[in-house]
Order: sequence, then C-alpha cells, then structure tokens
Amino acid sequence: MCGIVGYVGPRQAQEVVVEGLRRLEYRGYDSAGVALVVPSEGGGGRIAEAKKAGKLANLEKVLAEDLLPASHTGIGHTRWATHGAPNDVNAHPHLGHERRVALVHNGIIENFAELRSRLEADDHVLVSETDTEVVAHLVELQVESGVDLTTAMQRVCQVLEGAFTLVAVDAHDPDRVVAARRNSPLVVGVGEGEHFLGSDVAAFIEHTREALELGQDQVVVITRDGVQITDFEGRPAEGRRYHVDWDLSAAEKDGHDWFMRKEIFEQPKAVADSLLGRRSQEGLLQLDEMRLADDEIRDISKIIIIAAGTSFYAGMVAKYAIEHWTRIPVEVELSSEFRYRDPILDYSTLVVAISQSGETADTLQAIRHARTQRSKVLAICNTNGSTIPRESDAVIYTHAGPEIGVASTKGFLTQLVACYLLALYMAQVKGTRYGDEIDEVMSQLEAIPAQIESVLAGAQQVYDLAEDHVGTRSVLFLGRHAGYPVALEGALKLKEIAYLHAEGFAAGELKHGPIALVEEGLPVLCVVPPRGRDQLHEKMISGIQEVRARGARTICLAEHGDTKIEPYADVLIRLPRVPVLLQPLVATVPLQLFACELATLLGHDVDQPRNLAKSVTVE
Ligand code: F6R
Repeated sequence: MCGIVGYVGPRQAQEVVVEGLRRLEYRGYDSAGVALVVPSEGGGGRIAEAKKAGKLANLEKVLAEDLLPASHTGIGHTRWATHGAPNDVNAHPHLGHERRVALVHNGIIENFAELRSRLEADDHVLVSETDTEVVAHLVELQVESGVDLTTAMQRVCQVLEGAFTLVAVDAHDPDRVVAARRNSPLVVGVGEGEHFLGSDVAAFIEHTREALELGQDQVVVITRDGVQITDFEGRPAEGRRYHVDWDLSAAEKDGHDWFMRKEIFEQPKAVADSLLGRRSQEGLLQLDEMRLADDEIRDISKIIIIAAGTSFYAGMVAKYAIEHWTRIPVEVELSSEFRYRDPILDYSTLVVAISQSGETADTLQAIRHARTQRSKVLAICNTNGSTIPRESDAVIYTHAGPEIGVASTKGFLTQLVACYLLALYMAQVKGTRYGDEIDEVMSQLEAIPAQIESVLAGAQQVYDLAEDHVGTRSVLFLGRHAGYPVALEGALKLKEIAYLHAEGFAAGELKHGPIALVEEGLPVLCVVPPRGRDQLHEKMISGIQEVRARGARTICLAEHGDTKIEPYADVLIRLPRVPVLLQPLVATVPLQLFACELATLLGHDVDQPRNLAKSVTVE
C-alpha cells in the first residue's frame, strides 16, 4: 500500500526515483510524485517537485514535458489513497509551510485531525486533505527551529500515532534523506557511494542486492557514504544486513504481457524452490527457520491460522492437511476478525500467520494480540525481512520470488507448499505419521512442479474458454473438501481482475440457498475431487447434476482417467492425478489462467486492478 523511494548518490535522482517507483507501482497507483533537492550556489537550495493523479505514466508524461533540475537527492511516492481523493493535490510528496521540507508517507496518522487543527490555529495553510501534509508541516517547523532533519524527524515521530513510513528531504541539507518507520515497511539499499530507501527491495534491486532491514520505531539517515540508524529518542540502533537472493530479471515481465501471467507460468519453479533443502541427509524433514523446539511442538494442542484474502484460502487447505496428518484441531480465521472475537489463546495454541507480503496490517495486529496471550506464532511468508516474520517466533519462508501482479498466484501455491511442509513436520515431531508415510507425501510434492507444467501446457484450452465467456456477467465455482478453497480462490481471482460477479461455494451448500442463482447458461466451474475419495467424488457429481438440471453450463476440472464425470461436463479440463489433499496445487492453475485471460480480453489492467493494492498496510 503506497510505494516509497529515496535516493542519495552520484546518479540523477529523478531517474533513480522514477525507476524505483515503476518497480513499486504494484503497491498503489492512484497518483505518483517526486521531490528533489536542488542545491543553489550560495547554499540554501530548494525543493523541485512534480506530482500527478493516476498511474505513474501520467507523472512520467509531466516530467518528459518539463524535466526537473539536476539533483542527486530525491524522494518519490506512488499512492493508494486513504485520506482524500486520488487527485493531484493529495498526491505525495507534500511540502511544509515554507516549501523547505518535502515528505512522502505510507500508512495512516491516527491523530492527524488534532495535529491539523493545531497547525491551522497557528495560521498554517494546508492545501490537501491528507494526513501526510500535517507531518510535512511539523517536520519543517522543527528544522526551522534550528535542529537538523534527523532530530526533526525523531521529535515528530514521538507525537505521531498510527502506522507510518515517512521519508523526507530538507532543501537546506542536500546531502541526506531521512526516513522513519512504525508498523509499515521500509528497507535500505546499500550501494557504493550511494544509498537507497524503498518500501521493498524491488525499488533498488537494479542497483544493489545488499539491503538493511530496520526495526520498529526507528529513524534512518542515508547519505552517499553511510547509513545511520537511531530510535525515535535518538539512541543509536542497528539494522540487519542481508543479501537479496533474486535479481532484476525477476522483477521484469520477461516477454509476457502481464506480471500475473509470468507469475502463473513461474509456478513450477516457485513450488520446486519452496521444496528445496527441506530434507536432511537422513531423510528427515527439516525446516531451518522453524525456531520452535520439538518439545514446544509436542505441547501444541490447538492451531489457529490467521490470514486475509488468498492467503486465507491457503489456510483453509492447511486445515485439512494439518488435521489429517497431525490430529491437532485447527481453526482458520480472517485476520481482520480475529482480535474482535476475543479468541481463546494460551501457551499451547500455535498461531500460524500466512502472509505473502509479511506486511498485512490486520494479520500483523492479530499476531501481536496472540503473542500478548502467550501463544507462539509461526509465520508463512514470502518476503524476507518483512514485519510479520520478524515479529513471529518461527517462520517458514516460501521461495516464490517477487510477486508483482496484484492478484496473488505463485504466492498462493507456495503458501500451500509451506502449509503441507508444516503439517508434515509436525506429524514427524509428534509421531502421528510414520517416516515412510511422510516420505511418500514429500515425493508426491516433489512431483508437483512437473504436473503444474502439464497443466500450463494446456493453457490454450483455458484461453479459448475465456474467449467464450467475454459476455458473461456472473460465474459460480463449486468445490468440496480441499477443492472448496480452490473454488473460493477461483472466484476471487475473477472478481479482482475481471470485475465479474463470481462466487465460490462448497458443493454441499448449494441446495441451502445458492442454487437459486442458477439459471439457463450460467457457467459453473466445478473442481472435481480425485477418485481416491469415492464418497467425495460421488457427492460432487450429485452437486454438478443439480446445477446442470437447472440449465447451468458445467465446466469441470477433473483428473485424467476420470470417465465418470464425462456425462455431466459441458466442458472438461483435465488435471494430473494427485492425492486429494494436494489437488489445490494443480486445480488452482486453470482458474488463474481463466481469470487472467478473461480480464485481458475485457481490456482490464490485469496487474493493477482498480481499487486494489498489493500490500495492505492499513487496517
Ligand atoms: C488476492 C490477494 C489478496 C491477498 C491478501 C493478503 O489475489 O492477493 O487477497 O492475499 O491481501 O495479503 P498477504 O498474503 O500479503 O497478507
């Protein structure tokens, strides 16, 4: 939610900042802006800025017509609006009263109304509706009083409430950019004779793969030669240095029309990478970021999975796997609801937080609540150095690489892999499954990348199907057991990027209400369970018959060799044969392709769907 960039170094700051914004645009694209410090001969200096509503391309057009002056220090922002409409005036950066300080912000300043009234009482004119402009004025008041930008930022952070990443420059101090963070992402890029700031490493990955992770409530100063970190009171602090294990090519479209399509096709590798190195030489499962002792795992009597959106559906699949393999009861809860129902938690409850970005505000608040109740928290996350894994007792990193399309695809599949690994690991420690049983599932998992490849090889059939549905306004998805979350995920993908009415249902629930939606020609995508579970399979066929009898057009996803389904399928998409618990890993893929292709045919921006942003850092 909002992308932030900062730069100090020998290059032209405008180029570095705009390039960084392009890589961060997936975080928000309501408006964009840059501010540069332009030094003047006799000292002093001034701020040059440009900002524009809409996508980054609009700002680039403005800059192409009217290039900003040369500068080596700059900040930039791409916005997902919270306070105030996405127009030119509300776009960041915001300037102080004297136009001396420019500042960008991600997050929400909760006490901004009170701070704004105080400033207005002192005759400050605030031109935007944003909470950010208030902070720009406050920081500027501080530098005007004679302290440097670093002290100004520290002092202002002490009076702010809420979640924020702030990045500021001072026209009178052209060699530094100062930033602060509380509950909102910010990383430092460490170069040679130059330094970068970004909401995530994509902002500077083409210049350096060396990064510095910051802690909570810290202020960081970057200059050409160094990085200095303090807390909000000015006491020295340290960041954690790490090397980013992917490069620029991972953040490029690589010949695809959309990042989303590229990421769908990257899934075989993403799944394989997420399985790498999980078995010891003795053949035992090992999760080296686990950090929970075997005794602690044996003491777990209940698991609560918390997550949002697509990650929540991964959690639903995890419930089936964990309960089946470990016999530990599992609840799955939306993170936005979790704290408000007063959940029953204690030291024997393991809370599993699933978050691709590691920054989702609802999930973060939920794990904090769990930890205050003495529960252990394990994060499943794709983003090294992000807040949720940092604040968790243990973490399983997925290795999907950067996911840039707003709609999650490889993020989801690798979350599923991590959930299966967690379930199997717990089964190993608790002894609820024999070693050879665990081995067998691991071998089945290791075969999945090739099976996903075979689904992707059939993409054309799905694209043709999407073409047949260009005029469709409504689509239903049905599933049972582990196929039910797949149905929900298929529907979510279609809502997000094709803006269609799409609903996923548990097939058994149909006759309790949703079947009333069925009318002549309504497309119903049905995730048919593998035949190993005959009861499930038969029940699913009954559900399919029910909708078909009422005129629905059934599009069935069923495994190769399943002939029983043939009479009930208007369209049949074949899936590789995999065990029922693992079927989401292959059954989700055609649904992703369907949504991606349909949205493309409808002329939508697949990577940046309306109203959405990749990383939801506000509650
Ligand atoms: C859907 C999607 C969202 C996210 C949700 C949680 O395609 O991407 O529903 O899954 O916002 O995000 P994370 O996993 O980053 O916590």
